[in-house]
Amino acid sequence: MISSTRLDQMGNSPAFVAVLRASRLVAITHATVLILGESGVGKELLARSLHDASPRAKEAFITVNCAALSESLVESELFGHAKGAFTGALTERVGRIATAHGGTLFLDEIGDMPLAIQAKMLRFLENGECQPVGQEQPRKVNVRVVAATNRDLATMVTAGKFRQDLFYRLQVVPLHLPPLRERGQDIELLATAFLENFARQQGVTAPSFTYSAMEWLRSYPWPGNIRELRNLCERAVIFQAGQRLEVSFVQAHLQPRTFRFPSESQDACDGLADATLTMQHKGISLDTLERDMIRAALHKTNGNRTHAARLLDISRDTLLYRMKKHALR
Ligand SMILES: Nc1ncnc2c1ncn2[C@@H]1O[C@H](COP(=O)(O)OP(=O)(O)OP(=O)(O)O)[C@@H](O)[C@H]1O
Ligand SMILES: [Mg+2]
Repeated sequence: MISSTRLDQMGNSPAFVAVLRASRLVAITHATVLILGESGVGKELLARSLHDASPRAKEAFITVNCAALSESLVESELFGHAKGAFTGALTERVGRIATAHGGTLFLDEIGDMPLAIQAKMLRFLENGECQPVGQEQPRKVNVRVVAATNRDLATMVTAGKFRQDLFYRLQVVPLHLPPLRERGQDIELLATAFLENFARQQGVTAPSFTYSAMEWLRSYPWPGNIRELRNLCERAVIFQAGQRLEVSFVQAHLQPRTFRFPSESQDACDGLADATLTMQHKGISLDTLERDMIRAALHKTNGNRTHAARLLDISRDTLLYRMKKHALR
């Protein structure tokens, strides 16, 4: 069972408790799990907890970041290849799937898996057979698959960017981690634990938030979710050990000076980076900035207007009005 005292299991908010309860139940099974949630909500941590709480805990936990795989190498990376399977295949290669034999295979950023490889992945999920490139005999592999994504897979299926059959096969047990802004009552618990942990690591006295700073944290939208809170607490321990953390401190460290997205990925912010550059060199047009922000938010959310509006902290109607104004679709 997952220990209830672990930092990564902390929280009392109903949505989080529900996910935790479901994850405890599913951990001991071999079912495929799909972890969903915005960037920084703790998907990778949950995947590891599932593995640690499973009968496979002593076996391998292999992570494959599907977004980082080049399309030409992905098949051999995942499934392995036989010696001489293609030019440059000088020796046999055991793929990541086979490396995870007996343990857990974590397919991170599954929404970014190239379409070309999705059919082969589906076949593997259905019959547990792993077919190395250039090898006739498939090999039976026993792995538990956990996948994660911050993308809206259903929308990607509609847009033809993700296979529907794979989507359904992955959804055996979907676990949706709530964003931090919906876990208001957990913020104090998490922040205190982070401050104490970092302080202990650095051998200093933990700082603490004033009542009004904590109120401020509870009303902040947390685009970077737990990652952002963790970083804030680490900074607080470095710069303010043993002190009271005032609203001015959190504002200086959190209030977006430029618009930020709940992702560390750069591509979503490209429009903004351009806008910022323009500002540095020749002043900035607010109209351009607004258009670029809307474009970037729509890109980040795969065109989902409700999510994009939430990212921009405006109503959906306002977003639609402004999209019309900028002739965006
Ligand atoms: N419940 C938690 N308790 C403690 N730390 C957490 C918790 N959830 C997440 N974190 C920390 O927040 C950071 C982000 O977590 P993680 O990498 O698991 O998020 P993610 O959902 O996989 O994000 P991304 O979509 O950007 O990959 C990590 O440093 C992780 O240790
Ligand atoms: Mg992750």
